Amino acid sequence: QPLVGLVGWRGMVGSVLMDRMQAEGDFGLIEPVFFSTSNAGGKAPAMAKNETTLKDAHDIAALQKCDIVITAQGGDYTTEVFPKLRAAGWKGHWIDAASTLRMNDDAIIVLDPVNLPVIQNALSKGGKNWIGGNCTVSCMLMGVGALYKAGLVEWMTSMTYQAASGGGAQHMRELLTQFGTINAEVRSLLDDPKSAILEIDRKVLAKQQSLSAAETANFGAPLGGSLIPWIDKDLGDGMSKEEWKGGAETNKILGQGAQFGTAATPVDGFCVRIGAMRCHSQALTFKLKKNVPVADIEALIAADNEWVKVVPNTREATVKDLTPVAVTGTMAIPVGRVRKLAMGPEYVGAFTIGDQLLWGAAEPLRRMLRILLE
Ligand code: HSE
Repeated sequence: QPLVGLVGWRGMVGSVLMDRMQAEGDFGLIEPVFFSTSNAGGKAPAMAKNETTLKDAHDIAALQKCDIVITAQGGDYTTEVFPKLRAAGWKGHWIDAASTLRMNDDAIIVLDPVNLPVIQNALSKGGKNWIGGNCTVSCMLMGVGALYKAGLVEWMTSMTYQAASGGGAQHMRELLTQFGTINAEVRSLLDDPKSAILEIDRKVLAKQQSLSAAETANFGAPLGGSLIPWIDKDLGDGMSKEEWKGGAETNKILGQGAQFGTAATPVDGFCVRIGAMRCHSQALTFKLKKNVPVADIEALIAADNEWVKVVPNTREATVKDLTPVAVTGTMAIPVGRVRKLAMGPEYVGAFTIGDQLLWGAAEPLRRMLRILLE
């Protein structure tokens, strides 16, 4: 069985990855080697077979023995270790959740239900670097990739509603702590049905505006009861890095754009952090190349893969099935609110949601592992 090195398996994405690998029986097909950046020599988790101690994740010689390395350790680790491993002559497959290598010409962004042909083409040419996409982009393409595959999209804008988990585990804790602090501030007034709502509102705002630096350390601004319309770095041209990824990664996943010698589809919009836990939601506007009936659009989307679910565009179905609370922890990618917009018959709106730790991070990696094991 191939020797598969696992790095960063204890973190949030890594833990979800381990759960999914166990649920799908992946450990039955591999000889796992568990690496650690902090606890080399410690005991490997229960999924270990022959190698029951943790190896040092910076030990290039130990990594070199692996046929495949999967890492969810993060970008700093990739930046430090990946070049050394390749420089040492390692020819194995590197599967990575971090964005570090994503846009390199010799790296493929893996999302096989959407781009299996791109993956297979790279494999046949000796590709070795398989990188998971940005969570928002992966969830979006799992939902509406069918429209791209059908060549229908002239352009798309996405307005995102991104969960705290996209920042990391500490961000989720910070959000919940803020909610608690705010609630505590007005608890007695809430308990009194006769209290004045504007008094409650005034106290909430005063609390939000006076949260300490420690209470906003991760997001840099209050998020509980608010939102933050900027995610990731400032590219200096008015665009956030998360917004840039939307266009760059969508096209790269689809195997189009400059790297492939073809035209890119314009994809752009605003990325906004909201107080959801781990589901990224997106309102999409498409300009289609032709007028396609809504029923045909829904049928195309529904037939694309086994995880996408079209939610009927009614109030009842939407509030039941098209919310982060309904989707969290599931592999389903609902797409709803599909309707023609007032701008004209080629303009179509849709709303989609995905668990950013599952399809947004862990799942494409373990599926790439399975493709390599075939
Ligand atoms: N950049 C994403 C976010 C994380 O902050 O939500 C997943 O790529």
